[in-house]
Amino acid sequence: MQIEVGIITISDRASRGLYDDLGGPALKKAAEGYGWKIVADALVPDEKRDIQRSIREMIAKGCSLILTTGGTGVSLRDVTPEAVREIAIRELPGFGEVMRIESMKITKNAILSRNLAAVVEKSLVICLPGKPSGAVECLSFVVGAIPHCVEVLQEVPTSC
Ligand code: MTE
Repeated sequence: MQIEVGIITISDRASRGLYDDLGGPALKKAAEGYGWKIVADALVPDEKRDIQRSIREMIAKGCSLILTTGGTGVSLRDVTPEAVREIAIRELPGFGEVMRIESMKITKNAILSRNLAAVVEKSLVICLPGKPSGAVECLSFVVGAIPHCVEVLQEVPTSC
């Protein structure tokens, strides 16, 4: 099936125009490279309500996969995991576990990241770090499981 993707950059500073959003475009390029179709993108501040509204809007636009970048760190303004967990049906802990273990081979700060994946309605939401290279790397560590996960959630017949 064609995976339709929404990309959300979560950043106070980028949403205020204080610097360019580099994470969103980096994820867009990576997602296109995997053969997925980008149907929506958004730039929101580190506010739970804005993050949740943006996810719901992307689901309404038909996104079966939503990638977020930013807000997964330890700063008090980082609320992406809390925002997603509040609206999720279930969390898929394996995604965060693999992203952190693989990222530890690249940077010791990866232990600080609270990357996660969760199911919201029938869509898979994957929360990636704010650093563009980190977001693309983390996506690459879990990409193998994404098509099957999306198919199961969308109730498309699968081979396993
Ligand atoms: N993971 C990978 N693969 N590569 C990285 O460069 N950066 C880390 C981490 N995970 C990084 C990474 C850093 S520096 C931080 S602080 C945390 O992700 C949280 O990132 P965020 O606050 O930008 O979401």
